[in-house]
Amino acid sequence: MTQRLDPWGQVKIEDYRKLFDEFGIESFEKFKNRFSENRYVRRGIVFGHRDFDKIVSAIDSKKPYVMITGLMPSGKFHFGHKMVAEQMIWHQKLGAEIYVCVADMESYLMRGISFEDARKIAVDEYLTNYIALGLTEKNLHVYFQSDYVVAYYRFRDSLSGKATLNELKAIYGELTPSKIFSVFTQVADILHVQLGGFSGKVPTVVPVGPDQDPHIRLTRDIASKLDLIQPSSTYHKFMTGLQGGKMSSSDPKSHIALTEDLPSAKKKLMGAKTGGRATAEEQKKLGGVPEECAVYELMVYHLVEDDKELLGIHDSCTSEGLSCGECKKVCWEKLEKFLTEHQVRRQNGKKAVENLIRIIQP
Ligand code: TRP
Ligand code: SF4
Repeated sequence: MTQRLDPWGQVKIEDYRKLFDEFGIESFEKFKNRFSENRYVRRGIVFGHRDFDKIVSAIDSKKPYVMITGLMPSGKFHFGHKMVAEQMIWHQKLGAEIYVCVADMESYLMRGISFEDARKIAVDEYLTNYIALGLTEKNLHVYFQSDYVVAYYRFRDSLSGKATLNELKAIYGELTPSKIFSVFTQVADILHVQLGGFSGKVPTVVPVGPDQDPHIRLTRDIASKLDLIQPSSTYHKFMTGLQGGKMSSSDPKSHIALTEDLPSAKKKLMGAKTGGRATAEEQKKLGGVPEECAVYELMVYHLVEDDKELLGIHDSCTSEGLSCGECKKVCWEKLEKFLTEHQVRRQNGKKAVENLIRIIQP
């Protein structure tokens, strides 16, 4: 039995490669050299794509393209979100027009978060951190699903004629009215940028986790019926929670927020699940397993830019009996530096965020 990807369920992906055969996602391998400056690409964290060649052509021929992403404002902005933010910034630097959709309709329908709370979380957590991480106001469009322009709503509503109930069931399984509504909203998010009055018919890329692939498949299908360009997508691996399992904003023990105070961050890091052995002796003899270590993962995704340094840590762990205590100390120094500097960048970015809000406030 093949798995079904569920955008609103618990997705645990044992083997990312399986997604290639089961869903036709393609490996990102062939772009690795071309974009080796991006640590997520270089390290195989961005592992898959659909139609990314279109985006590469646009970049190479200096033609416009759009990157759109949506955020579900549901809690603290953590290191998993930082990974997505840095991909947005990467595309912005490559010349993309950036659309950020605050999915407050989806978070209301699917998670019961009020529009007021969603707005506050979107601004204080997501937008402020995006700016602090380096997203600029250049070619940046931010909008709320619940508060946008007529053309978007007209387009969204018209989309409901473009798929049958059976198609939706085949892709999503069990349906509810709220799910169906959220689905067409997301299709509209991704495709409306191609309408006149927005960015027009240009290639679009959506960086997502594999749980969002059902939306991508449906959107690509509908795009072909509407004579729009089928959007491209890239797929990134999920970050593991500090205790194993999923990193999630609703479980504070699973993540460190980018605004976490230092003592709390330190405590979480020191208590994180490692790939270390039960005793120091065993660790010396057998070495640890960095591939199963939340501390190592933080360094791979975020805290160590230099590949040689990372390899050094990897090898000390596997073959030199580096103790997890020592390793966590090294990691903490890096984390402490990042969090401290990030606070300053958040402060410095306040003006830019206020500007942004002024533009998007009705
Ligand atoms: N469903 C997405 C999530 O759960 C949010 C989202 C809404 C989105 N619209 C989008 C993502 C458009 C990418 C593109 O995070
Ligand atoms: Fe993880 Fe470091 Fe321990 Fe290795 S030594 S298992 S990388 S914490």
